[in-house]
Formats: sequence, structure tokens, C-alpha cells
Amino acid sequence: MILITGGAGYIGAHVALELMQQGDDVLILDNLCNSYRSTLDRIAALSGRRPGFIQGDVRNRGLLDTVFADYPIDAVVHCAGLKAVGESVREPLRYYDTNVGGTVTLCQAMAHAGVFNLLFSSSATVYGDCATMPIDETCATGQPTNPYGQSKLMAENVMQSMVCSDERWSVGLLRYFNPIGAHKSGLLGEAPTSTPNNLLPYLLQVASGQRAALSVFGRDYDTPDGTGVRDYIHVVDLAEGHVKALDALRTQRGVQIWNLGTGLGYSVLEVVRAFEKVSGVQVPLVFEGRRAGDIARCWANPEKALNELGWSARRSLDRMLADAWRWECHLHQEEATTLVS
Ligand code: NAD
Ligand code: UD1
Repeated sequence: MILITGGAGYIGAHVALELMQQGDDVLILDNLCNSYRSTLDRIAALSGRRPGFIQGDVRNRGLLDTVFADYPIDAVVHCAGLKAVGESVREPLRYYDTNVGGTVTLCQAMAHAGVFNLLFSSSATVYGDCATMPIDETCATGQPTNPYGQSKLMAENVMQSMVCSDERWSVGLLRYFNPIGAHKSGLLGEAPTSTPNNLLPYLLQVASGQRAALSVFGRDYDTPDGTGVRDYIHVVDLAEGHVKALDALRTQRGVQIWNLGTGLGYSVLEVVRAFEKVSGVQVPLVFEGRRAGDIARCWANPEKALNELGWSARRSLDRMLADAWRWECHLHQEEATTLVS
């Protein structure tokens, strides 16, 4: 059985679905601080089975000890965490407590229970403002410009030290680039509980009429059209990467780091134009200054994951945007139905 912390969230839910579809038993632990219980129904509808669910906090050692004692868990995917950069600047202690403290508590409980296979949701933000593109795993980690990024790097360092001290561990640090998109059914996707910070969820809310315009942060970067360039990856490709990485953990020891990206970079304007093409909806834009802490360019060298896991991202940008739009329309319709009934 695989425990997914934060499994009711955007990425964890797609990982849960992918694992269940290939026959694994999944138990989700989530405190629902940034997700909805209804996500479990969506996973059940798509997989034909219900994942186990415990509503609880990953910082609660007593609860974790009970969970490991009660279920035959042999690996953990640790997605639980807080991820809003601006909020992390205002509430740094909450971010360090959850993202670093939560990881320490989870690792202590795992060691106590004799479970040593762990996959961690890390981020390309740990590379900081890397001078050379594409970024491969040998690039030094940089100086993340906000507490969120720092907390991800600190959590990675905690696990690196832990593995040096005890050779029973097998830990995979998955450095995600920019996950977007949704399940192709349109039934599972990202459901922000507050104003989104990231490009795609904000763009979707503009396109569906919930917000007036998309702010484009900076058009004077050293990029072909002056707007920021990122490596957007379909969330289902990302989830498939977790399945492959979990398989690899079962036969390796130590720490493995894998970038999960496509190796392709798209600018903000390229994303907007591609979205308009696949959806047929115009997106009003407002050009603004650069967002504090943003970097100009960031894309992965994904070869290590290909060579070591046999994994590569297969879904195109158009596919990511079409799937995301299908999900947004579904959510909108669901909300309208709930209001009417
Ligand atoms: P999300 O907010 O949708 O999911 C995180 C889940 O963790 C939520 O369901 C939330 O309720 C839960 N959670 C938060 N604190 C918890 C706690 N103390 N105990 C138990 N559950 C808790 O975010 P996501 O986009 O699915 O991200 C998942 C992980 O991937 C996070 O660790 C995030 O930092 C990392 N990550 C995300 C991105 C991205 O762009 N989405 C990029 C890089 C890394
Ligand atoms: C952001 C976080 C990063 C985190 C990642 C995934 C910051 C500074 N960095 O990365 O730590 O790991 O999300 O969760 O927030 N953009 C707009 N208008 C918007 C939103 C974004 O123009 O309304 C631009 C940004 O300037 C950037 C691109 O779109 O060029 C992508 O932004 P975003 O989706 O927030 O991701 P990152 O900045 O890469």
C-alpha cells in the first residue's frame, strides 16, 4: 500500500489515480487545508475504486504512528505542503513548520515503522536563478528568493542528511518544473481555494469570466518576446513520472534526484496565444512590471529521468491547455448546477 500525503491536492490526486489505475492500493492523508473532500469521489469515479482516506495533519506524529501501525504501507509519496509564494513571505513560520517540520515528522514516523521508501514533491525553485539552460540535476542548488523555495530546499537537505546517516533509506527528490493541465476526462484538475498565483489557474479564471484580465508580469526579460519562459508539464505526465520513480526506489538505495519537465520552454505570451487557439476564447491582458522574485527563464534537461526511469513527458502544450480548459468548464458547470439546486 502506498501512502500519499496531500493526496487530495492537485498533484497528489493525479498520482493517486495513476497508481490506482495500475492496481496499487492507495491511502491518502490530507488535512484538506487546500483541497476538497469531493476530490476523493472524483478519484473513485475515474479509477472504479475508492482510495483510503484519513483527514489529518502530517505534523501529527501520534496520528502518523497509528496510520503506519494500522495499514501495510511500504512506500510514501510526500506531496503535503503549502505552496503559495506570496503567502510564504507573509507567514514564513507556517511554511517552515509545514514544509520542513512536516517532512521531519513524517520521516521520523517512517523510520519508526520501518518504512524507508519515500518520494518527495520538490520544485525547480531549488535551483534558484540558474545561469545556464537547460537545467540538469548536477546544477548546484541556488538561493530561492522566498520562504516557500527555501523550505523546499531545506526539506531536501533534511532528507539528504538523513540518508547519509542510515543506509536503509531510498529517497527520490522529484523536482517539478511547472505542472499544469488536468485529467483528460475533465473530471479531475486543480481547484484553487483562493485567488490563484500561478499563470494557468489565473488565466483559466479570466477565460471563464471570473476575473477581468490576466496581468502579464514583465515584458522586458531577456527572452524572445520579453515575457518569462517556463517548462510547463502536463500533470498526468508528472503523475506517470511518480509511478516510474516509485518502481526505481524499490531497487535502489540512497538519494536520487530527478527533474520532471519536458525540456521545452514557452513564454507567457506563447501560452496565452496557444490557449486562445485551443479554446477559441480571447484572454484580455494587462501588462505590468516584473513580479518580485521571478526569474526570466527556466526549463529542464529531462534526460536523467529518461535514462534512469524510462520516463519522458509525452503531452504537448496544446493538450495541457485543452485538458485544463475542459476541467475549468466542468467545474464552472458543476458550480452553476449546485447554485440552481
Ligand atoms: P495542493 O495545495 O493542491 O496540494 C497540497 C495538499 O497538501 C493539499 O490537499 C493540502 O490540503 C495538503 N496539506 C497541506 N498542508 C498539510 C498538512 N500539514 N498535513 C496534511 N495535508 C496538508 O498543491 P499541489 O500543487 O498539489 O502541490 C503538491 C506538492 O508539490 C507541494 O508540496 C508543492 O510544494 C509541490 N510542488 C507543486 C508545484 C505546482 O506548481 N503545483 C510545483 C513544484 C512543487
Ligand atoms: C511559481 C513560484 C515557484 C513555484 C512554482 C510552481 C514564484 C516567484 N515562483 O513559479 O516557487 O515552485 O510557481 O508552483 O511565484 N505570470 C504572469 N501572470 C500571472 C502569473 C504568472 O505573467 O498572473 C508569469 C510569471 O511571471 C512567470 C510565468 O507566468 O513568468 C509562470 O508563473 P507561475 O505559474 O507563477 O510559475 P513560476 O513563476 O515559474
